[in-house]
Amino acid sequence: MPFPPVTDEVVRRYDVEAPRYTSYPTVPSWTAEFGPAEYAAALERAGDPLSLYVHLPFCRELCTFCGCNMVVLRDRSQIDEYLDAVEAELSLLAARLGRRRQLAQMHWGGGTPTSLDERQIERLFRAIVARFDVVPGAEVAVEIDPTVTRASQIELMRTLGFNRLSMGVQDFDPVVQETIHRIQTVEETRDLLERARSLGYRGLNVDLIYGLPHQNATTWKKTLETVLALRPDRAAVYSFGYLPQLRHHHRLLPVAALPVAAAKLALFGMAYDAFEGAGYRPIGMDHFARDDDELSIAQAAGRLRRNFQGYTASPVAEVVAVGATGISDVGGAYAQNVRALPYYQTAVTEGRFATDRGIVMTEDDLARRDLIQHVMCHFQADLDGPAARRFAEELARMRALEAEGLVRVRQAAGGGVHVEATPLGRIFVRNVAAVFDAGVRKKGSHSKAV
Ligand SMILES: C[S@@+](CC[C@H](N)C(=O)[O-])C[C@H]1O[C@@H](n2cnc3c(N)ncnc32)[C@H](O)[C@@H]1O
Repeated sequence: MPFPPVTDEVVRRYDVEAPRYTSYPTVPSWTAEFGPAEYAAALERAGDPLSLYVHLPFCRELCTFCGCNMVVLRDRSQIDEYLDAVEAELSLLAARLGRRRQLAQMHWGGGTPTSLDERQIERLFRAIVARFDVVPGAEVAVEIDPTVTRASQIELMRTLGFNRLSMGVQDFDPVVQETIHRIQTVEETRDLLERARSLGYRGLNVDLIYGLPHQNATTWKKTLETVLALRPDRAAVYSFGYLPQLRHHHRLLPVAALPVAAAKLALFGMAYDAFEGAGYRPIGMDHFARDDDELSIAQAAGRLRRNFQGYTASPVAEVVAVGATGISDVGGAYAQNVRALPYYQTAVTEGRFATDRGIVMTEDDLARRDLIQHVMCHFQADLDGPAARRFAEELARMRALEAEGLVRVRQAAGGGVHVEATPLGRIFVRNVAAVFDAGVRKKGSHSKAV
């Protein structure tokens, strides 16, 4: 299905603040009333197996587009001190989880996990497997930045048991790269991707961003062609989250060179058509995957899910996170660790969780979360009779979106209702999902829908 035409007027109407729904309730509604004791209580309710997220914030340099929680690395000893803390946190976590120590998924993210050298990678991995059992067939994934990653690092990781790899590209255009302070050659990217492939990594992913300063149709077309020639298994094509209030280094970017909303959406449209034309399946709002990739298979089977790492095919719903800013989704609660490294390191090495904020989900939150997740993953939601009565107000708003051409709403058996996004509604899926969000009209600081 080709990318549908979108008028400027439609862009203006729907380009409002809208969460990306990597969580629900979204981060602005979490509070500091949720602290270490509440996190410990949530861990008592954890299931088994779990997914483990490890946040490794270090990067060699600051890329000025970056919206992630990262720290520019001062020297290598800083990483060892950080790993001392992560080990301490892993011990706290394992003690609290008792016998529930199986991991069906592990993800190292950042920052740049390959800021760790080979010794540090091995040290961290051994610290994890000394406390947890990685079950056979588990998805063990890492995010890398090709500009700082050596083949020897991904070789070691493969031997340790890593089997999925995602790499940042963003854009190959030299002017864009210079502007975002991220110089990365096609050759180093290709070399690493091919090495990863020959080592047996699966689900090889590249990240691209549309809406960066100086991107235009000509340069972007070339970037897309170059990326397609690399034949990754998947691609994430993220909308640039420009957040100068939250990420002060975004103020270093030339505002006048940022594509306006309609031009930005046109760049996404180009990516959509290019990936679809090359045989990739659109997944959720911003991913593309080959037909034989797990993401495509999960989407076709209705099992795709969304978490803080984006779209996932993993059946494990509960995530425990270690590291500064790490976010856990466990025992019916979200919990985020503190950001500042000194606070994080002191707390966990003194035997306390470093939880900074979070939320215990109510039954209402969980019901809305299910609906929002389903819309974000499958562009549709099914409400049975009682749910349709309970969310009657939301369904009335859905009818208004139906009149605007974003969704189709159909009565189903037993008083139920089926909601499905149209091709236009798929583009603005965040706006459609937001109908089920009880807090979206109250809380701010989200990025725009385009
Ligand atoms: C933790 S980073 C990736 C790892 C590695 N540090 C790198 O830069 O290659 C994960 C991805 O988030 C995306 N990202 C970061 N900042 C973003 C922003 N402001 N807007 C949209 N996507 C962003 C990028 O595509 C990036 O590759």
